[in-house]
Amino acid sequence: MRILGIETSCDETGVAVYDKYQGLLAHQTYAQNILHADYGGVIPELAARDHIVKIIPLILSVLDQANSSPKDINGIAYTAGPGLVGALLVGATTAKALAYAWKVPAIDINHMEAHLLSPMLEKTPINFPFIALLISGGHTQLVLARDLGKYEILGESTDDAVGEVFDKIAVLLGIKYPGGALLSKMAQQGVSGRYIFPRPMIDRPGLSFSFSGLKTFVARTILSSFYNAQNYADIARAFEDAIVDTLVIKCRRALDQTGLKSLVISGGVSANCVLRSNLLKMMRIRDGKLFYPRIEFCTDNGAMIAYVGCIRLQVGLINRDLSILVRPKWSLEELPKIR
Ligand code: KG4
Ligand code: ZN
Repeated sequence: MRILGIETSCDETGVAVYDKYQGLLAHQTYAQNILHADYGGVIPELAARDHIVKIIPLILSVLDQANSSPKDINGIAYTAGPGLVGALLVGATTAKALAYAWKVPAIDINHMEAHLLSPMLEKTPINFPFIALLISGGHTQLVLARDLGKYEILGESTDDAVGEVFDKIAVLLGIKYPGGALLSKMAQQGVSGRYIFPRPMIDRPGLSFSFSGLKTFVARTILSSFYNAQNYADIARAFEDAIVDTLVIKCRRALDQTGLKSLVISGGVSANCVLRSNLLKMMRIRDGKLFYPRIEFCTDNGAMIAYVGCIRLQVGLINRDLSILVRPKWSLEELPKIR
């Protein structure tokens, strides 16, 4: 069984071919960073138009790389949500049209489930149940993954997502969108403790997050301080420390609450080195295990979509309806069960 995966939920065009027996055969991602850099965030209309230009050449190139032709493909998985409606429609329309032409099923995939399962593209097996911290530009969620398709959201951000805050603070520090990774690099030059920022919502019970207060606090600090490379690096360092501490504390709480020993992190911010190393330390002390995807599969990609498509096709969760339906909002708790 061989699946073509298509991802277009935001500003990455991702395509991959996944084979049930041979694993990932090919994958390519086109990131639109330059297109949105001057605006400080993603412009939905520009994103959708660029997906239209990139999607077909990318599919042809990935099929070629996977040594596959349309007759080798048994199903086409595409991101049906959550995401930007115009961007989602490009992937959904392409997937449905190809599925019709190639006489194979289309499989609608939830982007957050794909992030959650993305570490399973790696060799190390992960057993259910586990806690998953999903941290991207659009989401911050702590999820109890009971089994394939059975997810319970334990807590989420009531306002900005972690990645969004990284990107907004990065702009104030003079880094172009998407600035998360570069802000983290700047923080490496910073001295810890020169600035201290709050760790939001750790003094009250529960697993919810809120980052807009921290964002305002850091923004005010930047706007009222003088520019100096070391000073900006110190602020970046304090900001990253505050975010990482908050995420680590909430993960520890979720593990305590459920008694689980496995933690998965995924989504763009899971590429953050400080977060990974602090969580590794915490999991070592608890005799637990931390799982994450390889760096290129932390951010949006077609491989995770093709992988989940393969799982869902095996149990017959396909979409034969020819109507093009996308879901800009689609909770992990509303997925069709796999088993
Ligand atoms: O998962 P993703 O590609 O897109 C969404 O589905 O939203 O995540 C992108 C986010 C951006 O906000 C980006 O700045 C952030 O992930 N990011 C990072 C790092 N690498 C990417 N944030 C902090 N540290 C990083 N190393
Ligand atoms: Zn994503």
